[in-house]
Amino acid sequence: MSPLGYLLGIEGAALLRGLREGSADREFVEARVAEVRALLESPELAEGVEAGEGGIGVGEVYREWAGRYDSPGNQMVDVEQPVVRGILDGLRAGTALDAACGTGRHTAYLRESGHDVIGVDSSPEMLAHARARVPEGDFREGDLHGLPVADASVDTVVCALALTHVPELAPVLAEFARVLRPGGHLVISDAHQLAAYLRPTPVRGGAALLTEYHRPLSAYLAAALPLGFRVLRCEEPRRPRPALGPAPEVLAGHVSWGLLHRCPQAAAAVLDDSPVAVVWHFRLDGSDS
Ligand SMILES: C[S@@+](CC[C@H](N)C(=O)[O-])C[C@H]1O[C@@H](n2cnc3c(N)ncnc32)[C@H](O)[C@@H]1O
Repeated sequence: MSPLGYLLGIEGAALLRGLREGSADREFVEARVAEVRALLESPELAEGVEAGEGGIGVGEVYREWAGRYDSPGNQMVDVEQPVVRGILDGLRAGTALDAACGTGRHTAYLRESGHDVIGVDSSPEMLAHARARVPEGDFREGDLHGLPVADASVDTVVCALALTHVPELAPVLAEFARVLRPGGHLVISDAHQLAAYLRPTPVRGGAALLTEYHRPLSAYLAAALPLGFRVLRCEEPRRPRPALGPAPEVLAGHVSWGLLHRCPQAAAAVLDDSPVAVVWHFRLDGSDS
């Protein structure tokens, strides 16, 4: 993937959004054109960066990230967390599975909310952090495609910010349906398709980009509804538009391609008030849980 191509895409998206929403005045358009010229004359942007297809496994990525995953500045987490917690607050305490639990962010909240918690993740490094964070949790190394959890044994499944790593939703959602009791709740958060295009994720210290699977909202429904899930809620939380003053830091370099610092006005025009995540609340058919 070309850094220059990416930044030209951001400039183009800023112009298109500005034109569509009426905020692209003459000054804005001229600034974008001038920036495009400057970008084209930046030789250091011409060199390509490896896009992850094939070479970079999720295991390698989270081995690299485990120690800093919980650092502040992850906008995806900042935007997603209040929405997920709002849904979890409405659920009756029972047995909850945090599928792809990572460092145990939601596992800890579920535990504090009175649930018995099971956390499953394929990364031993991420699980080590989760175990330290929630010592009373039941953590198991395992894969979303074959959860080490008994049939119809949990009341709630949470799967946060992980489905972007799986190529097909249907087999993973089938696993969630298998382990849930009838009437159980499924809460999913994922990178929004739009954010996934606009914010490629760097790995190997920025030398490569992670392979991520982007999907339209209809794909979640196509996978979930045939399994007996019904939609209770769907939210697309947005990156806030700063009310006053300069835009905040575009994005922390460790969670998104730091190149956006080269064109902060265009990046803000594209990213501010645009959906960052999608959050679903499904309920499995069956008796009350
Ligand atoms: C972005 S982190 C999210 C962690 C946690 N759910 C949170 O929201 O803070 C994604 C996690 O998914 C895990 N993961 C990715 N693919 C997986 C798979 N096929 N099976 C199990 N875990 C997986 C990774 O190891 C990583 O811990």
